Amino acid sequence: MAPMGDNVVVSNVNLEKLLSMKGGQGEASYANNSQAQALHARSMLHLLEEALDSVHLSSPEVPFVVVDLGCSCGSNTIYIVDVIIKHMVKRYESSGYEPPEFSAFFSDLPSNDFNTLFQLLPPLANNGGSSMEECLASNGHRSYFAAGVPGSFYRRLFPARSIDVFHSAFSLHWLSQMPESVLDRRSTAYNKGRVFIHGASDSSANAYKKQFQTDLAKFLRARSIEMKRGGSMFLVCLGRTSVDPTDQGGAGLLFGTHFQDAWDDLVQEVPSQH
Ligand SMILES: C[S@@+](CC[C@H](N)C(=O)[O-])C[C@H]1O[C@@H](n2cnc3c(N)ncnc32)[C@H](O)[C@@H]1O
Repeated sequence: MAPMGDNVVVSNVNLEKLLSMKGGQGEASYANNSQAQALHARSMLHLLEEALDSVHLSSPEVPFVVVDLGCSCGSNTIYIVDVIIKHMVKRYESSGYEPPEFSAFFSDLPSNDFNTLFQLLPPLANNGGSSMEECLASNGHRSYFAAGVPGSFYRRLFPARSIDVFHSAFSLHWLSQMPESVLDRRSTAYNKGRVFIHGASDSSANAYKKQFQTDLAKFLRARSIEMKRGGSMFLVCLGRTSVDPTDQGGAGLLFGTHFQDAWDDLVQEVPSQH
């Protein structure tokens, strides 16, 4: 939390408790508004498969465990997990091994609409001990055991050395919190009440940069404990073309100024309701 006092314009609420994509399967839901992410993820499949080619093939006696961090509540996560598992099955088979059983953990903040995600999951194919080949041949079915894991990826989520593959796409740009100094009127990093850094001062940009570095270090530390030896991690992060962090380009205008306008409208509406 930000220090309390006259100089702080907004208390630093815990983003983890608030943040979520729009749940359900309605017109405005994440499930129906994530085609751009789907398109970009598909364009990177060759890189994902390259990363998977370096994963150590563990004993078929032990389940192979895949995790999607920041899975949200649409079908992109289901698609990617399916790609990962199918690729690993091929690798086991081409190496002359029987593929193991697969587990997939779909992880996001507790406020994520896991109910919608679970409803989108295809039924489990492994019905009464059928073989992996039969599972994969049964279209419209999944060949892995699924579970949801609520929690922030900036902390530990899994037991030590239990995960073979971590995947995370379009999620790591969400910081764990607003940097306190951008909310503090006394600080040179004070961002004048704005909710974005497009066109902000170098100090404000640096405060966000520091927060990102702290968060990313926590993320990597937690994963380094949780990953099995020989495991792999594939991260897809949003970027920008300019070296200047205060120039967020088109996305800065879309996610910055438009959000700011919407936020200002909401703030103005509150007093008029009383
Ligand atoms: C834009 S969605 C991406 C969903 C999915 N990976 C895709 O490609 O469609 C970003 C997700 O990251 C999640 N997220 C943000 N901060 C998080 C955190 N600290 N821990 C876990 N998930 C987080 C959000 O709740 C959201 O569901």
